[in-house]
Amino acid sequence: MDHEHVRDVDPAVADALEGEVDRQRESLQMIASENHVSRAVIDAQGSALTNKYAEGYPGERYYGGCEYADEVEELAIDRATELFGPEHVNVQPHSGTQANQAVYFAMLEPGDKILSLDLNHGGHLSHGHPANFVGQLYDVEQYEVDPETGYLDYEGLAEQAAEFEPDIIVSGYSAYPREVEWERIQEAADDVGAYHLADIAHITGLVAADVHGSPVGTADFVTGSTHKTIRAGRGGIVMCDEEYADDIDAAVFPGGQGGPLMHNVAGKAVGFKEALESEFEEYASQTVANAKALGEGLSEHGFSLVSGGTDNHLVLVDLRESHPDTSGGDAEEALEDAGIVLNGNTVPGETRSPFDPSGIRAGTAGLTTRGFDEDDCREVADLIARVVDAPDDEDVIAEVREDVETLCTENPLYE
Ligand SMILES: Cc1ncc(COP(=O)(O)O)c(C=O)c1O
Repeated sequence: MDHEHVRDVDPAVADALEGEVDRQRESLQMIASENHVSRAVIDAQGSALTNKYAEGYPGERYYGGCEYADEVEELAIDRATELFGPEHVNVQPHSGTQANQAVYFAMLEPGDKILSLDLNHGGHLSHGHPANFVGQLYDVEQYEVDPETGYLDYEGLAEQAAEFEPDIIVSGYSAYPREVEWERIQEAADDVGAYHLADIAHITGLVAADVHGSPVGTADFVTGSTHKTIRAGRGGIVMCDEEYADDIDAAVFPGGQGGPLMHNVAGKAVGFKEALESEFEEYASQTVANAKALGEGLSEHGFSLVSGGTDNHLVLVDLRESHPDTSGGDAEEALEDAGIVLNGNTVPGETRSPFDPSGIRAGTAGLTTRGFDEDDCREVADLIARVVDAPDDEDVIAEVREDVETLCTENPLYE
């Protein structure tokens, strides 16, 4: 992947861009919120549409010269509609957080009540953490997963909702490895007259491919990021029924954003087209099969998985029992030295801190894109175990680094 035009103007940035491509090629990207988009998506996102102001929506812009912007946005909308089946979709949110912001801004007043999953239990900052605008503008109470099983406690959630009487319940998570039963959360919301926002940021690709049940048609609002399992490049989307369409559109623009990032909307259009191909379904199923194989491999090495396994693209490992002297941060650092890039993560019942948590989270979306199968993922589990068992052993790290390089060569990226 060359960056010849950048190099002509700015060799320092060109070096960094090439360094990043090499980093992705030569190490295992297992951060569960990441993936590798196609060259087509990269082309679209690096296109001249970055120059275009297109405030408004197709056919109703505040600027001239929007005919191609309109075409691209309509294609993104049509394809998202075909993939997910909502009555209405807005493809302009700059990110998953902006998509959530649009729903809150459209449906809530400051001070209204949000019931969402605790960050330590797999929730997301934009669901109500005090450091985020959501935690500061709204009255947030949080639910937790069952401490014994690591699964969502739907009955507890319904009881908590009956007591707290939220205006909105947020489902959809950053570090929850199990299938979500959307109907049960919708029931809890209906019982107290609350809206239900299902944030499928992580599992957008799995939902599109029908590998995970869809909340579309059940939850009042469905939001997502477009750069995770769906591989459509940076951005967000909001989906809802027609009755909320005008409110949501107005909350995205002009409510929360200015001009849409039309080059990113083009990336979404291209990525959604790719996700409509039959190969994408195979990709999504393989991603889940790979996560299962990774989880089984880790369990065989004595690691404890939150909830005991996974139904989706990620595993969450609680290191406290198997490796009491190794924090998630220590493990993350040693693994990165060995070419395995993932993140330290909080776990339910966290006893350390978000800055030095007790777990690690690992996803298989990126590995699957570059061709990994279950055997490869079992091998990755072996490599993770070798490093986390001896995080200070430089010989082990060097040996694992070599094995990682072999796996990368066998499964090339961006050739
Ligand atoms: C559940 C959930 N919602 C929202 C987001 C935010 O997405 P973005 O980084 O696109 O703002 C994330 C990011 O990982 C997430 O996990």
